[in-house]
Amino acid sequence: MIRRETHSPDETRLIGRALGAAAEPGAVLLLRGDLGSGKTTLAQGIGEALGAFEVNSPTFILVAEHRGRIPLFHVDLYRLGDVDDISDLALDEVIGRIGVVVVEWPERYHGEWPEDRLEIALAGEGETRTLTFTPTGPRHRALLRRAGIAP
Ligand SMILES: Nc1ncnc2c1ncn2[C@@H]1O[C@H](COP(=O)(O)OP(=O)(O)O)[C@@H](O)[C@H]1O
Ligand SMILES: [Mg+2]
Repeated sequence: MIRRETHSPDETRLIGRALGAAAEPGAVLLLRGDLGSGKTTLAQGIGEALGAFEVNSPTFILVAEHRGRIPLFHVDLYRLGDVDDISDLALDEVIGRIGVVVVEWPERYHGEWPEDRLEIALAGEGETRTLTFTPTGPRHRALLRRAGIAP
């Protein structure tokens, strides 16, 4: 478990850029935190590094696909109730295969995420955010090292 503190949205976006630059197809990043904790801001940085622009909070769609160096699938489950079947989201089409998957509100899905993934928890107030990174397997431990976040 690794912690980083940021003091502005730009600083959070910069961490996202480092993650995006280090990401490979198959990366799965789950962003946990309250409304306004900075999940979308982090996702924007990831998108910038992948050459995907206009990453925002989709209003009506659950999965937004962005074409860049590697396709980015930005998933926001905020508007969803509880989901039991991943096929409802067509996430099984994208997870861990051809792109980088970034998920906001992953707790709204009750199925199984890939065993090797990167959990990122965001919390804080004012302009301060604490980002806690927990890789659950070797691929995402390596990603964190390439991003310069883990030693
Ligand atoms: N250090 C910080 N990192 C990220 N966002 C911050 C930070 N400080 C203030 N903010 C503000 O917090 C809000 C985060 O919004 P957003 O990224 O959409 O959160 P979420 O997707 O988690 O709901 C933005 O209004 C942003 O300007
Ligand atoms: Mg958001």
